[in-house]
Amino acid sequence: MKKLLGQIELNRIYQRNCTEGMKMIPGESISLVIADPPYNIGKKGSFIEAKDKHHHTIREDWDNIPLNEFEKFNNDWINECFRVLKPGGSLLAWGSHHNIHIIAQLMEQTGYDMKPFYIWEKSNPAPSWSGRLPTTSTEYLLWGTKGKNWTYNLDYAKSINNGKNIKNVFKTSLTPPKEKKKGRFPCQKRIEGLTDHLVKLHSLKGDIILVPFCGSGTECVVAKMYGRDFISFETKPEYIVLANNRLDDICDVS
Ligand SMILES: C[S@@+](CC[C@H](N)C(=O)[O-])C[C@H]1O[C@@H](n2cnc3c(N)ncnc32)[C@H](O)[C@@H]1O
Repeated sequence: MKKLLGQIELNRIYQRNCTEGMKMIPGESISLVIADPPYNIGKKGSFIEAKDKHHHTIREDWDNIPLNEFEKFNNDWINECFRVLKPGGSLLAWGSHHNIHIIAQLMEQTGYDMKPFYIWEKSNPAPSWSGRLPTTSTEYLLWGTKGKNWTYNLDYAKSINNGKNIKNVFKTSLTPPKEKKKGRFPCQKRIEGLTDHLVKLHSLKGDIILVPFCGSGTECVVAKMYGRDFISFETKPEYIVLANNRLDDICDVS
């Protein structure tokens, strides 16, 4: 049976600009947002192509927003996420050195309480093709809450770190081929050791997770695996097909 939240169907990916789509979501109804927005490196990173089959330069039109529109773009979705979050809800927002400073500042201005950020450290990152920069092996995940009583599942944190609370760093390899069987996507986040931990640390079974930038659907897949509901938005129909194909293969393993 279909589950509804106001007029919106749960566990469905809507083909819509997320800022517009989120207007359908009632205020204070979402427990966790995991946002993996455009880092805006589509153009700047495109002058050199990756030279091996494991690493790919991102050249996507959605990842090339004019600089004078980039702040407004981010401000709009960050504000809308704040509106739909329940008191105590969390926004986890991904970024790199290209966008993370903008997102952090906008989150703070919007009213989020900023908590320690996470770092994803990759053991096999793409090399610096030009040799004029160090090899970038990290991405950052900002964590902001809408007031107090946020979810942080300490018991789960201890269960993945030999009985001790975790540090704010996840060390893994890049997203493995076994998670890409349904098709290639240029910036698919990893499930194992990364997105699974985020969902289990920052939400409870039955919570609704909002995924404003669906891409290949990693965060939706993990929500479904662990007994959470999701709402997601994506502008590109071909990615919705990919994400739905991934979702079709998943059963609740919680
Ligand atoms: C970084 S990717 C997300 C990847 C995702 N975490 C995964 O593991 O597959 C960002 C996605 O957001 C989509 N996108 C960009 N702007 C959007 C917008 N305004 N509303 C909804 N989706 C958008 C892009 O088409 C792209 O698929």
